[in-house]
Amino acid sequence: MKLLLLGSGGREHALAWKIAQSSLIEQLYIAPGNTGTKEVGTNVNLDINDFNAIKNFCIKESIQMILVGPEAPLVNGIYDYFANHVETKHITVIGPSQEGAKLEGSKEFAKQFMFKYGIPTAKYKSITHNNLEEGFAFLEALEAPYVLKADGLCAGKGVLILSDLEEAKKELKEMLSGRFGDASTTVVIEEFLSGIECSVFVLTDGENYKILPVAKDYKRIGEGDTGLNTGGMGSISPVHFADKEFMEKVCERIVEPTIRGIQKEGITYKGFIFIGLIKVKGEPMVIEYNVRMGDPETESVMLRIKSDLVELLIGVQNGNLNDYTLIEDPRFATCVVMVSGGYPETYKKGYPIQSFGQTSEDTVIFHAGTEEKEGHILTNGGRVLAVSSYGNSMKEALDKSYKRANEIEYKDKYYRKDIGFDLK
Ligand code: AMP
Ligand code: GLY
Repeated sequence: MKLLLLGSGGREHALAWKIAQSSLIEQLYIAPGNTGTKEVGTNVNLDINDFNAIKNFCIKESIQMILVGPEAPLVNGIYDYFANHVETKHITVIGPSQEGAKLEGSKEFAKQFMFKYGIPTAKYKSITHNNLEEGFAFLEALEAPYVLKADGLCAGKGVLILSDLEEAKKELKEMLSGRFGDASTTVVIEEFLSGIECSVFVLTDGENYKILPVAKDYKRIGEGDTGLNTGGMGSISPVHFADKEFMEKVCERIVEPTIRGIQKEGITYKGFIFIGLIKVKGEPMVIEYNVRMGDPETESVMLRIKSDLVELLIGVQNGNLNDYTLIEDPRFATCVVMVSGGYPETYKKGYPIQSFGQTSEDTVIFHAGTEEKEGHILTNGGRVLAVSSYGNSMKEALDKSYKRANEIEYKDKYYRKDIGFDLK
């Protein structure tokens, strides 16, 4: 199998690391990749949204499968682009069609879908300039805090949670007037749900599916989940509250109706579904859908998949995913993300990573924002490295990640020291 993976973050390094372990892989390319991915495959300098350039590369190198890391190419229709060109329709794109990618690309579409198929989620109302008064009335009928979501993609910044009604009304007007550009010409107002969250990943061939190891991510910059939102500061898998009983409910009430809904809508979907879940009084509810793997959850989840990932992807390609088994590693996996001091606000980059610490069998370092220059590896982003470890308990795995994070040296390094604090 010659496979092209699209993306350049810690998630893609973790996917590449796992894919490279497969005996079925003849050649792994990553576009554009990063300093870490080139240790396990070949980086190619391609823009992930330049479908024509990707097509030409795939034809030249006889690529058989494209795995899409981030959401943008999926929302922009990479699946359909490859399926609709005679020269590329034999190449499998792992990911939904453009219609399916609306589950992430449009909050309104996702909410309509969930209501249509009886999938538990927060009450909502979809608002544009034309029904602003209805928006105000809906907000008045809700209790604080108020959740406002830009309909379109906003790189994870399109959700506002406000404690004051008047402020929520003001923000609603501002969002509709282009606070997030075209992404917020429609705004979804939601009832606030209170509970603990986790991430459920489903791999589907459009009919059959496998539920991957459940993970929890930590989004805030500060300890105790305080401060600004980031691209992710750490993750843990498994998640103790996602026990057998809870997962049976998730399967029956959420995963099954999601897959059946996708089929009934006539949506082509061969890829990952990431269900952002919240446990409210013991019951699972959907916060959001994404149409890709999560970052930094992937940096824990990949450690916990024992099966050959490429074999599962071939099952997706051929529509016989049920012929394969997904074997989980029973150990815990934890990921601690190391960032540049100042992130997610202003920070400096270009500092040499002076030490990567002492290698050990149970820890893998995934690169997120690094760059290689004249033989030195430099920091090159807000999130720099993801330090992932195995352990027989969450504590043991975390101890290993923290030991290594402590040994890694670069100027202005910062990481949260309380990953998993709410799972103890
Ligand atoms: P994002 O990943 O940027 O969409 O972030 C959304 C985050 O906002 C979720 O992870 C939740 O923590 C929170 N959130 C979204 N919708 C709701 C809701 N209806 N009730 C409570 N929290 C929510
Ligand atoms: N960890 C959340 C996300 O990837 O969107």
